[in-house]
Amino acid sequence: MYRSHTCGELRSSNVGEKVTLSGWVQTVRDKGNIAWIDLRDRYGVTQMVAEQGVVSDEIFGQLRTLGREFVVQVEGEVIERYSKNDEMETGDIEINIASLKILNGSKVPPFTIEDETDGGEEIRMQYRYLDLRRNPVQEKLRLRNKVSLETRKYLDSQDFLEVETPVLIKSTPEGARDFVVPSRMNEGQFYALPQSPQTFKQLLMVSGFDRYYQIVKCFRDEDLRADRQPEFTQIDCEMAFVEQEDVLNTFEGMIKHLFKAVIDVELDDKFPRITYAEAMERYGSDKPDIRFDMEFVYLNDVAQGKGFSIFDSAEVVLGINVNDCAIYTRKQLDKLTDWVKRPQIGCKGLIYVKCNEDGSFKSSVDKFYSQEDLAEWAKLANAKPGDLILVLSGGLDKTRKQMNELRLHMGDELGLRNPKVFKPLWVMDFPLLEWDEETERYHAMHHPFTSPKPEDEALINTDPGKVRANAYDLAMNGVELGGGSIRIHDRDVQSRMFDLLGFSKEEAEAQFGFLMSAFEYGAPPHGGLAFGLDRLVATMGGSESIRDYIAFPKNNSGRDVMIDAPSPLNLQQFEELGIKLSK
Ligand code: AMO
Repeated sequence: MYRSHTCGELRSSNVGEKVTLSGWVQTVRDKGNIAWIDLRDRYGVTQMVAEQGVVSDEIFGQLRTLGREFVVQVEGEVIERYSKNDEMETGDIEINIASLKILNGSKVPPFTIEDETDGGEEIRMQYRYLDLRRNPVQEKLRLRNKVSLETRKYLDSQDFLEVETPVLIKSTPEGARDFVVPSRMNEGQFYALPQSPQTFKQLLMVSGFDRYYQIVKCFRDEDLRADRQPEFTQIDCEMAFVEQEDVLNTFEGMIKHLFKAVIDVELDDKFPRITYAEAMERYGSDKPDIRFDMEFVYLNDVAQGKGFSIFDSAEVVLGINVNDCAIYTRKQLDKLTDWVKRPQIGCKGLIYVKCNEDGSFKSSVDKFYSQEDLAEWAKLANAKPGDLILVLSGGLDKTRKQMNELRLHMGDELGLRNPKVFKPLWVMDFPLLEWDEETERYHAMHHPFTSPKPEDEALINTDPGKVRANAYDLAMNGVELGGGSIRIHDRDVQSRMFDLLGFSKEEAEAQFGFLMSAFEYGAPPHGGLAFGLDRLVATMGGSESIRDYIAFPKNNSGRDVMIDAPSPLNLQQFEELGIKLSK
């Protein structure tokens, strides 16, 4: 028996018991004739004590050879601690060592394995198995485990069946590049790793599964960001005989259940909804953070025609009202201006209007605008004395995007994005199609299986860019947690859709023939959605970065620095696959 208890388990009520504990040596404190070890495992830390003369010289000598992260087994009696430690759950007791066995030694770890470590990101990722011994990291994975467990419980209670779908498939168009896998048995041919199980879950609906889910790995070869990994996990769901409202209600229920069961947070009873068009107009984002206001104010009417050519020539003059920030100094405003001018944001400049406490205004464009003019701006922006109006101008889409960044930045600066506050928001009625300047054709904004809104169907031939889709996203705190749609379930409509997306009949048949023929055998109306599990867990944990919530994540260049992947193959492997590298 390696242990009778874990290192997080013993309390005063165990005093007098003889116990055996196994774990890792966190610290050894040697005071000459008395020594303490902190022994750690997944469950906690327990202090061990040995006094010279009380334990054998052999044990005492052995104790002195222990280093950090040695794996040891200790037997002893639980005793009341002389000086108790309120910060430790086991802080009332310690173990009087009777025997000690070294189960395995350890090299000195490259960083300290404590809550606050001295290891930088790079080294921690290289030795991720050691980083994972740290409590704050384990805490994040425990949270993840609880979220998947509660997801399964909820979906099971709603009659969803978990069905696994293949990983070696044919490309599914979700907008990113595929990771491909060469087939040795079919030389010159390739599988693709699924960007999502989209077509399979639709086929399961045709098969009559009715309610499907899967907690599933998806793979996308795209540029990485804090909330994007090349392989990530979806809670992927699909339902048959449903309308949009049924899907939204089911998954609003799931998200509410998860927040309550996992972190004891009651979310809004009914999640607010906004259309895509309105979200873009008011926040310049399809995943607005509604924990704070600062909604966009359109200033064209009051700012144009006064001789300020930059505004006069702009498609839009856009402002936000930042409450109580008229006190910003020149230096702070210069810093903000530099911030919006960074290449990532790309503004040419930033105009401000301070609404002074005495009712007057001070702006960076005083030369062009009278006090009365600026009073009009303030009125439109609903700004009161003490507020600061920040203004950007230019093309509509670009300026909205830039203002979204500035709004979020101000929210961060002013502490308005409290990670413990959770504000879900359904974003509805996404456009069906998006014009791609590069390829000069439309592509599906969500994916090609998304159905158009029936009332917009007539526009498909006349003004395709205006057609709205039965598509929805769930945003929370500025993060897109999930998205889905009601699907096309009619072969002809699906075929017309591929047409619209520029697929020839042959291409559509080659790529999606299996789906279209399935639609000829009684496909029920269906729809669904998928949540990003990594993003959901990170949001619950109050973090924007999903990496900490993944046991073995990739870095920003898509590398796993621990196992050193990706890596070259040997020549024989290439030969077997019939592949020649061009460089
Ligand atoms: P979508 O492409 O919107 O929809 O993906 C669903 C959710 O998956 C998460 N996500 C990611 N998380 C981490 N890293 C990534 N690279 C990444 N890409 C996406 C997001 C996103 O909301 N098949 C459809 C769903 C459907 O229509 O049912 C799909 O995959 O949280």
